[in-house]
Formats: sequence, structure tokens, C-alpha cells
Amino acid sequence: CGIVGVLGAHEVAPVILDALKRLEYRGYDSAGIATIHEGALERRRATGKLINLQDLLVREPLRGFAGIGHTRWATHGVPSVENAHPHRSGPVAVVHNGIIENFRELRDELIAAGAKFTSETDTETIVHLANKHLADGMPPVAAARATLGRLEGAFALAFLFEGEEDLLIAARRGSPLVIGHGEGEMYVGSDAIALAPLTDKLTYLEEGDWAAITRSAVQVFDASAVQVDRPIATIAVESATVDKSGHRHFMAKEMAEQPSIIQKALAAYTNEADGILNLPEGVQFNDIRRVVMVACGTAFYACQVAKYWFEQIARIPVEIDIASEFRYRDPVLERDDLLIVVSQSGETADTLAALRHVAGHVRRTLAVVNVPTSSIAREADVVMPILAGPEIGVASTKAFTAQLLSLLLLAAKAGLDRGKMNADDLTTLMSEIQAAPGLMSQALDRAQEYARIAEELAESDDVLFLGRGAMFPMALEAALKLKEISYIHAEAYAAGELKHGPIALIDKTLPVVIFAPRDVLFEKTISNMQEVMARHGQVILLTDADGAKLAGEVQNVIVMPKAPTIVAPLIYAIPAQMLAYNTALARGTDVDQPRNLAKSVTVE
Ligand code: G6P
Repeated sequence: CGIVGVLGAHEVAPVILDALKRLEYRGYDSAGIATIHEGALERRRATGKLINLQDLLVREPLRGFAGIGHTRWATHGVPSVENAHPHRSGPVAVVHNGIIENFRELRDELIAAGAKFTSETDTETIVHLANKHLADGMPPVAAARATLGRLEGAFALAFLFEGEEDLLIAARRGSPLVIGHGEGEMYVGSDAIALAPLTDKLTYLEEGDWAAITRSAVQVFDASAVQVDRPIATIAVESATVDKSGHRHFMAKEMAEQPSIIQKALAAYTNEADGILNLPEGVQFNDIRRVVMVACGTAFYACQVAKYWFEQIARIPVEIDIASEFRYRDPVLERDDLLIVVSQSGETADTLAALRHVAGHVRRTLAVVNVPTSSIAREADVVMPILAGPEIGVASTKAFTAQLLSLLLLAAKAGLDRGKMNADDLTTLMSEIQAAPGLMSQALDRAQEYARIAEELAESDDVLFLGRGAMFPMALEAALKLKEISYIHAEAYAAGELKHGPIALIDKTLPVVIFAPRDVLFEKTISNMQEVMARHGQVILLTDADGAKLAGEVQNVIVMPKAPTIVAPLIYAIPAQMLAYNTALARGTDVDQPRNLAKSVTVE
């Protein structure tokens, strides 16, 4: 969910709406704004995307110079107007990101005391608690503080009070929150991007902080209620609005950009003169004995590919896990471990929590992120930006291949630092990597073939994806993309696992997409393809010209450019994405903002 608060010198509803647009990546189930006008608290809420709230505000404008806003990704309660934020009880309105873990107990207590609940959310307990404290005679700041004292869980909050046109209360526990300083105006936002066009003067609240904000002053208190000084930093954030540059969807634009992004990132991370790696300061593996990589979603699949690279190129043990498991499984960490967290947004709650979980237990933490001002980037010891530029489509594409490139360069650096690669090896590897952008362009050129296969996939209820080695995570990523944007059930297996279960699913109705470049595992994967064909599965083979010749008679083959094995994941990412995209087009689904998803999930 995304939070905005403004104490303005002008009407704030349009400003809040604009900031919410920049936070829509955190959820788009419903949205709302509350303002204070002539002392009175008023709010507008709408389900679905922000455009619905925008329409509502045209019909029923909100006046006022102070307000809060929210874009929601539903946790407790369906996306309805009643469950949309801001929540309100009497003179208190609150917007909330995160989860109040003791809300059942609080709700029972409040209901027993006479509170009337109008939503199914955990958030509503906050406003009733605060209202109760106000009714007991506490002033707003004290009421907010007392309320915060009762809440358990991880959250960020902003409070607005009727009759108080010069007061916002902001609180951060677990979920990031930033205060922006304007000219006679003050702002609160979930991230720096939300506030980007308003101000570049930012105060990041620290864990457990809460703040009483007026137009002329900010008082910040830490978790033990001691007033503290938090610095104002000047942080320039690119706020240029991004357009589709003539493409039908952001996803299409972002897929098409991949060759040039990889080219640019490669140029940024190598010295032109000698082709030697030029990675951010602090990236080094001399004192590291194991790499632990943690991420969610697509970023996790990038880690899964990178595991093959690190092992092969740098001969270093690698452990990978999804963040929501890693943080709760009591992992065995060593002093000479390097933790690498990978996150496009840098705001994913589970990944951020995993980073915090290990801080202080390992030698170093390294964040591979796309948003350099993000919470994960701020908290890691070393940051390696993937340089993909803003990614708007919810299904990650260009960030995935840019993550792959960054991780491959890190593996090369590890190989050098550990003496597993010499200068000649590096030259060979770099020339293979240099070939990637051109090969990716060729892979993008297969538009008609992707569209043709997608017509078939669009008719299916299930699709199976298979691959071996680094093509196994590519199969996983392909299945994830298809699920996310076409809503077709898809699964991916390591091709060698087919016989241990999923083979039971195969019949003449099941499309099976097989990733099999002509590499050392080719013959093995093709044997698995034969097992599918022997059971009348509908094979779609992704391979290069050599592979196509050797594979024999196959129903469908998409011939990919021949790629060096090490960079093949970057090339085969393209069909993984393009098949999903074209299938979604054929099904008429919402490609850029698929149902139920958020671009970055900022709750556990
Ligand atoms: C969400 C998005 C995915 C993304 C994942 C991790 O689930 O829909 O596309 O891979 O979060 O996001 P991050 O910003 O941490 O890479």
C-alpha cells in the first residue's frame, strides 16, 4: 500500500492524487483521500484503480489545504469502498501500510467499549483507539502516541484530525516512511518517488520513530519517546513521467528496451579502454567464503540463475532462498558470508526484512536494486544499481534481464577476486556478454512466432514449462509471467523431474514449453521432450538452429539465435516474456496492471 500526507499552502486533493499515481506500484485495489476543509474532515474513496477515485473527485471534489491519501493492496477485507482507506472514526482519519497483528484483540476490546466497526480491516482498530483517547480528553498528539503504544506488527501510518488543519502525525514501524520539507508546506510519503516533484529535501524516519508535523516544524520521537534529530537530506529523484513511447503497453515498451538497457549497463560497469570490470566501490569477494542470495518473485529467479554462474565462474558456495522463508527459518549465517538481496523496487517488505535479519551477522550486505533511493538500497552496506530505468509494467521484464546482467558481472568479479579466472578468461567472458544485446534483439524479432504460439496457449487451462541448468529458472520465470498476466495456470519443472510427477498431467491438451538451447544438457532435455511426445503432449521447443536440426520432428519450434551458454538466460528471457505477453493479448487481460497483484508488495 502507498501513503501520502500533505500540509499544503493550496488545495491538496490534486497534489495527493498525483503523488498516489506514483505510488500505484504498491497496489491498486482501491484508493482514497481525506482532507480538512473549514475545520471539517471529509473523505472520498473508490474501488479499483486510481482513475476511479479521480473520476469521483471530479463529481464530488474535496476542498482543503491538509489531507492524507492511500492506494491499497488488500490484506484484511475485500477491495470495497468500506475497506478502502482513509479509515475514520469521529474526528480521526488514518492511512496505513502494513498489518496490525493484534487487531482482533483490539477490536474485541473496542467493540465491548461501544465502537461501531464499518469495515473488515485491521486498520479500523487504529482510528477507534485514537478516537477513544480523544474522547477521554487527550489532545491529538497524545492520543496518537497512546494509540501507537497499543499497536503490534509492522506498519507505517499517517493521522489527520478534524479541526487540526496544521497537524499530521506520521509513524514508522517496519514499513518505511519519509517526511518531505517544502516551501511553507510539509509532506509525508511511503517513498522518495511519491514526493519527487514536490521536494527533494527529505527526512527518513528510522525504525520506531513517529513525528508530529506542522507547516513550520517537525518533531520526531524515537521508539522510547525521546525527541530526536533526524537529518534533512537532499535527494534528487527522477520524477519525469514515463510514457509508453508508442507501444501498446508499458510491458511491451520495457521488453523492447532490453537490448539497449543491457548495452548501457554493461558500458557503465566496464572500462571502455581495457574492458575491465568497473563495479561500485565495496563490491569485492576477497574476504567472502559463501554467497547467500535472497529475493522475491522474478528477482528470486534471477538469483536462481546467478547460483549457476557463481558456482561455475567463481567456485564459491551459494545459497538462495525466497525472502519470506529465509527470514523465518533461522538460517545458519557465518561471518564471512556475503548477503546479496535482489529487488527491483527496493521496497518489498519480505526482502527488506531479510536484509535486516542478517545485518550484523555477515561480513557485508549487497543490494542489487533498480531504485537507488529505495529502503533496501539505503540499508545495505553496498549497492549495485541495475540501471534499468523506471519499470512500470507490474510483470517484471527489463528489470529481470538487468538483474541477470548485474549478477553475472558480480560472478565475474568473484571469479577474479578468488583467483578462479585470469585476465584471458575475463576477456573471453566479457566478449560473450558483449554479444548479449544483439542476440536479445534477434530474439525480440520473432514477434510473429510468439503470437502464433500464444494463440494456442490462450486456449489452454494449464501450461507446463521445462528446462535444465540455468534454463530451469528460465522455465520458472516463463510460468510466472504467464500466470501473472494471462491468469492461465502454469507450472515449471526441472526437465529431469518430469518423470517424478508432472508426467501424470500430460495428455494431448497440455502445451509443454521446453527451453533447450544446444548446450551440454541439450540431449538430456530432448530425451525429456520425447517422453512428453510419447504421451501426446503438445510440445513447443525453444532452441537454436543446431538444436532444431538435432531435435527431429517436433510440433512447434521457435528458433532462437545461437548464444554462448553463459549468456543464454538473457536471450531466453525474451521468449519467456513474449509468450506470456502475447497470450495475455489474445486473452484480453490487463497486461500492465493484472488483477490482485502489486508491482511491489510492501506488506508481509
Ligand atoms: C511483486 C511483483 C513481481 C516482483 C516481486 C518482487 O510480486 O509483482 O514482479 O518480482 O514483487 O519485487 P521486487 O521489487 O522486490 O523485485
